[in-house]
Amino acid sequence: MGDRLPIADDPADASHTPVLLTQTLDGLAVRPGAWLIDCTVGGGGHTEALLSRSAPDGRVLGIDADPAAIRRVSLRLADAIAARRLILFHGDFARLEEAAAAYVFAPVDGVLLDLGVSSFQLQTSERGFSFMQSGPLDMRFDPAQPLRAADIVNDWDERDLADVIFRYGEEPQSRRIARYLVQHRPFTTTAQLADAIERAVGGRRGSRLHPATRTFQALRIVVNAELAQIEVVLPQALRLLKPGGRLAVISFHSLEDRIVKQWMQDEARDYVPDPTRLHGGYNRRPTLRILTKKPIVADATEVNRNPRSRSAKLRIAEKLPTI
Ligand SMILES: C[S@@+](CC[C@H](N)C(=O)[O-])C[C@H]1O[C@@H](n2cnc3c(N)ncnc32)[C@H](O)[C@@H]1O
Repeated sequence: MGDRLPIADDPADASHTPVLLTQTLDGLAVRPGAWLIDCTVGGGGHTEALLSRSAPDGRVLGIDADPAAIRRVSLRLADAIAARRLILFHGDFARLEEAAAAYVFAPVDGVLLDLGVSSFQLQTSERGFSFMQSGPLDMRFDPAQPLRAADIVNDWDERDLADVIFRYGEEPQSRRIARYLVQHRPFTTTAQLADAIERAVGGRRGSRLHPATRTFQALRIVVNAELAQIEVVLPQALRLLKPGGRLAVISFHSLEDRIVKQWMQDEARDYVPDPTRLHGGYNRRPTLRILTKKPIVADATEVNRNPRSRSAKLRIAEKLPTI
């Protein structure tokens, strides 16, 4: 399970408010007795709501790469575990089918992915996700994984560093930032790194976004191979669903959302064009029906209450019968 991160290390006042909660439960059409997989347990907010909507005998398999999240939720939802309604699995959701097979948990009525980082992770400075409070340059969801943000910032060559900041942070000043970081490294804390990025781009310039936001996003994505994990988990989720079962994905930035949107569109297609032939292509039976033509987003009340919901996008699709 990697380094032990005692729950006592969690900031006492931290909590994670689940985003788009009602829309997610409605989108998944959760019914009593449903079998559901929550691939991103986090603080357990969605998990708890899935358990309550599927009561009295619905079951949830909850997964998280972060052992601290699993430990926290195993205490919070101990009653559901004792009642055999909740199983918790520590690991990457890229291992979804393995987890489901280990607990004979298939086929299922719904699968949920609420991507990214939890408030607990952001607010626990030792995890190094945030530049708002200084911590080590870590950013691993699973502390057993070898790559830390510090390894990228301090060891990678300038060009590779610039490329990841550009590609995964969509940061227009990536070259300038990478050059500055390489000249001024090593860095050991998130605060040092954030200051250096601010200096590299010449201060804040009145922007609402801290100049380090995009670079931190890029580092987190690379440390946790986040985009690759999404590509791997989506087809596994589809295979585990019953016909009529539903998949809900909440993403927080455009790179994630693009992968989900394109994959859903590909699976929903009944004709696949072949660009290598003039009038080429073939008909196929679609595997999914998209239920959200446009992603569902938070309304003003939710954004006011929970600013983290501002960038959330929820997409839902239903598995079609195979014959
Ligand atoms: C936004 S939080 C989920 C919050 C949760 N829905 C709630 O209501 O409390 C995302 C969680 O997903 C986990 N996570 C991110 N990528 C993961 C992956 N590839 N495999 C497993 N867990 C992952 C993170 O550790 C984090 O706890």
